Amino acid sequence: MSIVITGATGQLGRLVIADLLAAGVPAGDITAVARSKEKAADLAEQGVGLQVADYDRPDTFAGAFAPEDRVLLISGTDIGRRAAQHAAVIDAAKTAGVAQLAYTGVFGGPEADFRLADDHRATERLILDSGLPHTFLRNNWYTDAPGLTADLDGILERGAVLTSVAPGSRLATAPRTDFAAAAAVVLRADGHVNKAYELGGDQAWTHDEFAAEVSRQAGKEVVHTSVSPAQHKRILVGAGVPEGFADILVDVDDAISRGKLAGTPGDLSRLLGRPTTPLADTIAATLAS
Ligand SMILES: NC(=O)c1ccc[n+]([C@@H]2O[C@H](COP(=O)([O-])OP(=O)(O)OC[C@H]3O[C@@H](n4cnc5c(N)ncnc54)[C@H](OP(=O)(O)O)[C@@H]3O)[C@@H](O)[C@H]2O)c1
Repeated sequence: MSIVITGATGQLGRLVIADLLAAGVPAGDITAVARSKEKAADLAEQGVGLQVADYDRPDTFAGAFAPEDRVLLISGTDIGRRAAQHAAVIDAAKTAGVAQLAYTGVFGGPEADFRLADDHRATERLILDSGLPHTFLRNNWYTDAPGLTADLDGILERGAVLTSVAPGSRLATAPRTDFAAAAAVVLRADGHVNKAYELGGDQAWTHDEFAAEVSRQAGKEVVHTSVSPAQHKRILVGAGVPEGFADILVDVDDAISRGKLAGTPGDLSRLLGRPTTPLADTIAATLAS
């Protein structure tokens, strides 16, 4: 039996592997699936197994899995193409008859009606149709995503966090570390098969609150500026964001305005056995780093 992590050289994948190792899972019981052997060299050095495979080349997944494996499919980054890419992994998992296929989808699952969610809804459908024992990890937005703390330097420089969300809209983020820890739990512990978890922070916050907290901690005034969707898109494209991705980001803000990322069902803190990491802590850690 192996715990197999795809996207293992990404930020979330690396954190999941670190959590599994920290929890005492032997490195030899973990397999990292990466498209670059070189990028995964540090994982191999720790004794983690390595499988080189690419979502765009289904043949590379032939023989990647064994019947007892617990597999985490970390969603890819090619928005709009991901369902077809993920199908390659699902097909290989089905051929092997794996014990568990966990998938990092999006908060709301089938109810998530925004464009970024299309690939996730389609992937969950493929997994359900495969009949495989599955676990859906429906992740809310990362606190440390671009546009939030990952862009704190730029936000501080501009003195503004820019969105097109309606005033007062809330989102319940958590940092990647929390989402990764939850993924590690469902992979190493029993009782999580054929379950869907709606994962996010315990407290939802507004961008005004985010700006106020950054101001307080950094000692520099930062405001939240909400502009129209059309203006938002123009600004993003002007800053070098590809037009298609700018459309996706503006559409996510529309979803936030409609309350689609505001839910706080508590699944993440229950899986972690502790409260989720507060927004203020992630801001503090980012400022300290
Ligand atoms: N909830 C949120 O706020 C949020 C934000 C951003 C992303 N996401 C989703 O969550 C996933 C994990 O997040 P992250 O922060 O770990 O992203 P990340 O650091 O960009 O990692 C993405 C991983 O997917 C791998 N990948 C991409 N295309 C692939 C392909 N064709 N074949 C094989 N592997 C491929 C990448 O491989 P390489 O290491 O070789 O590049 C990387 O390991 C993302 O991929 C995205 O679907 C969610």
